[in-house]
Amino acid sequence: MLATQTERTIRPARNILGSLRLPGDKSISHRYALLSALASGTTKLTNFSTGADCASSLACAEALGAKVSSLENGVIEITGTGGQFQASAVPLDCGNSGSTMRMLTGLLAATPHAYTLVGDESLSRRPMERVRKPISQMGAEIALTDGHAPITIRGGKLKAIDYATPVPSAQVKTAVLFAGLQAEGTTTVRETVRTRDHGELALRAFGAELERRTDSVSIKGGQSLQGIEAVVPGDISSAAFFLCAAALFPGSNLVLDALGLNPTRATLLDVLTALGAHIGVLNLEEKHGELIGTVQVNAPAQGLTGTTISGGLAAQLIDELPVLAAIAPYTQNGIRIRDAKELRVKESDRIALVARNLRAMGAEVEEFEDGLDVPGGQQLHGAEIHSGGDHRIAMAFSVAALRAEGETLIQGAESAAISFPEFYDLLEQIAER
Ligand code: S3P
Repeated sequence: MLATQTERTIRPARNILGSLRLPGDKSISHRYALLSALASGTTKLTNFSTGADCASSLACAEALGAKVSSLENGVIEITGTGGQFQASAVPLDCGNSGSTMRMLTGLLAATPHAYTLVGDESLSRRPMERVRKPISQMGAEIALTDGHAPITIRGGKLKAIDYATPVPSAQVKTAVLFAGLQAEGTTTVRETVRTRDHGELALRAFGAELERRTDSVSIKGGQSLQGIEAVVPGDISSAAFFLCAAALFPGSNLVLDALGLNPTRATLLDVLTALGAHIGVLNLEEKHGELIGTVQVNAPAQGLTGTTISGGLAAQLIDELPVLAAIAPYTQNGIRIRDAKELRVKESDRIALVARNLRAMGAEVEEFEDGLDVPGGQQLHGAEIHSGGDHRIAMAFSVAALRAEGETLIQGAESAAISFPEFYDLLEQIAER
């Protein structure tokens, strides 16, 4: 958990210019960390996420018996347990990380020891029934506390299931696949929206075979994993803040190298293009199934247009919606977001907090149960912003502040470190004043 609350003043900018390489993707880092603990042999990871969330996954891996050490040049070495997780005398602390808690539930489902999974105040409010249901159907004993953490889990002999996820969630899909890897028979997960597929790609990278169909993925139980050497691509959800900032300033030029461009994650680039931004992609390559490339963004001279985000798009852009809503007042026609009810059960109620903070900056905004209408053509003014301890809210409103009149004070600014500790320093580097 991050200790003291800090505030940050964000001054308006004149332009966004520069070239950056970002720390590793949070979703991929979690999966590599957890699978390396299950695998036999040693895994070496370069450009592992620097966020506190992924440190929670690494700490849990260590508590389960994996040996974690930091080498030079930021390389992390993890020696796995070969599937023999040790008992833990203390609860496994998932901090603020829903990914750690949900994916661990799947990973531990076949282990005979009893574990307790705990999290901070925000994580202890988030829904866990979505992961309890399939994993207990497979045979693990799982108890929640009123639908939430703390979770107690005692694993055992698992049987495969065929599971259709009721809410689109890559965390749940991955948890079921992690358990399926250790079950008897072939486990299938069906999803109506294709959520991020890093779990599938990571399992393949560590040596498992999976079968992918249009709307489902299957894994045969009893396969063993081997450690890997991998470079984690830059985090596109962290990049989103800078890409959106650059899209706001005619004359901007931002280049991001070695960025993760997995098609299940790169929908933001399509949205920015639809809004009129010029996006170039260069130097594409594939590593362990993950697409990596250089992205260049230039803002349109006449400003961004407007768009509606709904249906499956909302699920694919779930982490980018706060920043898109925060820049929406500066577009010509505004941004409408629907079918994004999941935003209400993230690290904070992101629909409520985005609406509240936009209003604090003087914007007109309409809130719906599953989204927001943010009209365009609005000039915002600096204000006091409340992050609610949510990293993406702190960063989204730091971006909105760049085009506001006057200074903006971000309360709870430290929460950015959950996914992106370098955020403010890098923002200062690319913001021209
Ligand atoms: C993630 C999936 C998404 C996302 C989260 C990371 C993942 O959550 O919001 O930041 O790594 O699988 P859900 O699975 O709850 O949609």
